[in-house]
Amino acid sequence: MQPSIEQILSSYDDHTPLSQASTIPSDWYVDPRIADLERLRVFSKTWQLVARTDQVRNPGQFVTNTVAGEPIVVVRGNDGVLRAFYNVCRHHAAAVVTQPCGQASLLHCPYHGWNYGLDGSLKGMPEFDGVENFDRAQNGLVPMRVERWECFVFVNLDGHAKPLAEFLGGLVTRVAPLGISKLHYFDRRTYNIHCNWKVFVDNFLDGGYHVPHLHKGLNSVLDYKQYTIENEDRYCLQSSPMVASDEDVATGAVRKGDRAWYFWQHPNLMINCYAGYMDTNLVIPVDVDHCTVVFDFYFADVGEASRAYNEQSVSIGNRVQEEDLGICEDVQRGLKSRAYRAGRLSVRREAGEHLFHRLLAADLKSNIKSSAASD
Ligand code: FES
Ligand SMILES: [Fe+2]
Repeated sequence: MQPSIEQILSSYDDHTPLSQASTIPSDWYVDPRIADLERLRVFSKTWQLVARTDQVRNPGQFVTNTVAGEPIVVVRGNDGVLRAFYNVCRHHAAAVVTQPCGQASLLHCPYHGWNYGLDGSLKGMPEFDGVENFDRAQNGLVPMRVERWECFVFVNLDGHAKPLAEFLGGLVTRVAPLGISKLHYFDRRTYNIHCNWKVFVDNFLDGGYHVPHLHKGLNSVLDYKQYTIENEDRYCLQSSPMVASDEDVATGAVRKGDRAWYFWQHPNLMINCYAGYMDTNLVIPVDVDHCTVVFDFYFADVGEASRAYNEQSVSIGNRVQEEDLGICEDVQRGLKSRAYRAGRLSVRREAGEHLFHRLLAADLKSNIKSSAASD
């Protein structure tokens, strides 16, 4: 008989210390009921990165995106206020804004031509005379929480969520000295991967364990033995001193500085920094077996003179990513095997993964308890 969702969740003890802990069990990566629960209890309740501040700097600028399967639009109003809405027309549910980003003076639904102001208010409905008991004021776009941090815009589908700064916790002060908001967006790479989103996060959070084996080029610029892993509230910082590389000149040329900084914020955001460089990785679940990972690359200088350097840097990032992609898809196949249930964790390397699994378990379990209590 198929185990119940409660049985699956209780099969992981989130209070076990790292030296005795195992990973979350394989069911968590392959059972669609867990994926559904994560959509409701994790991705619908956490702050999610949806745009860059430079995309919504001026009145009328907008970005569309999807969070936990919900279409959303973020737009700067004529009053300078940044707002976010469900991108769902109040008439018959079409997407009101259909471009990924742009600028508009009104939000115009392409289906039957309803118009909304930049503040979400319903401005006009063609051929709607004679409709009774219709209150235009009650039929604006449905708003959601939006906040910014550094050069990023986040939304939260949960109206009762804590403010963004509280959610980010210690990450805010830890990232501040790196001056990431001074960098400029350069390019994006999107990867569709045949694995559960958590496999990608686990891969990121193994404290460099896989780096000497899988990423020879990257390994040549890191001082692997000195790699550090720090867990705090909802983030993990993995960091390594950098060394000059004569083994891999291409990597050494574009991965510079004293230290490499790899931040992960629960559940699905990574921020990777070297001197004059940042990439963000946003891991978006598609279904239990697939995820999309969006890499955005930023540089100190994005002028024409730096183009070739920046492109070389992106292509080095792409090579590392290709190396990870194959292994993540292999792991997903292995997680479905009857031979595998859960694995132990390296105390030296895998504390970040342990934090991720505990936070995820706590989110899923506590919300089950609270939803049961409110039923
Ligand atoms: S669905 Fe938008 S106007 Fe009809
Ligand atoms: Fe990797």
